[in-house]
Amino acid sequence: MERLETADLVLRPPVEEDAPEAFLLLNDPDVKLWNPGGECPDLEAAAAWCRAGGDWSSGTHATFHAVDPETGTMLGNVSLFAIDTDDRVAKIGYRVLPSARGRGVARQMVDAVTRWAFESRGLMRVQLEHSVHNRASCRVAEAAGFVHEGTTRSAYAVPGSEVREDCHIHGRLPSDPGL
Ligand SMILES: CC(C)(COP(=O)(O)OP(=O)(O)OC[C@H]1O[C@@H](n2cnc3c(N)ncnc32)[C@H](O)[C@@H]1OP(=O)(O)O)[C@@H](O)C(=O)NCCC(=O)NCCS
Repeated sequence: MERLETADLVLRPPVEEDAPEAFLLLNDPDVKLWNPGGECPDLEAAAAWCRAGGDWSSGTHATFHAVDPETGTMLGNVSLFAIDTDDRVAKIGYRVLPSARGRGVARQMVDAVTRWAFESRGLMRVQLEHSVHNRASCRVAEAAGFVHEGTTRSAYAVPGSEVREDCHIHGRLPSDPGL
């Protein structure tokens, strides 16, 4: 099992024992607005979501849960997805439990998984996209060493509405200074 360490976190693939925290995460209003993970009505649905995250067999994603090193409690979810081993590129997405926000969890897990993508998977670019209205995500991108490269028009369909929003594209390359 892959295991990454940062200053304050351990990252490892999701396991179904993460279901109680995953349930809270998927039902958080900010997550439902900016990075929905699908309907999660109960703990069984949360456990199934964790099992899917821990199954990397398709080769198209590598999903980690950040946990507290002392307690093992899940604090956040970060996924390298749309992995393209021909072009050696992937995208990254992330969510943090409301109770764990504001103390560098997103910054550390995005940085750690991006470095792992370069060093262990040989990727040459990781891309990060967020609605221009998601200021917190933009700060996470900058804090994790991702360069703002441009704006795509009407790229984000706001869940449950007809509203579409422009997105920022950020990218990080192995040659970028990072953190
Ligand atoms: C966005 C999110 C991942 C941030 O997680 P976090 O662990 O609190 O972020 P960090 O503590 O690592 O903060 C990293 C940087 O972002 C800034 N930041 C975090 N939340 C912020 C907020 N709500 N408003 C403004 N800045 C914010 C921090 O101040 C920090 O900046 P700094 O390096 O200049 O101090 C979290 O709020 C979340 O899960 N939101 C819902 C899902 C989401 O938006 N996912 C991204 C979709 S693209």
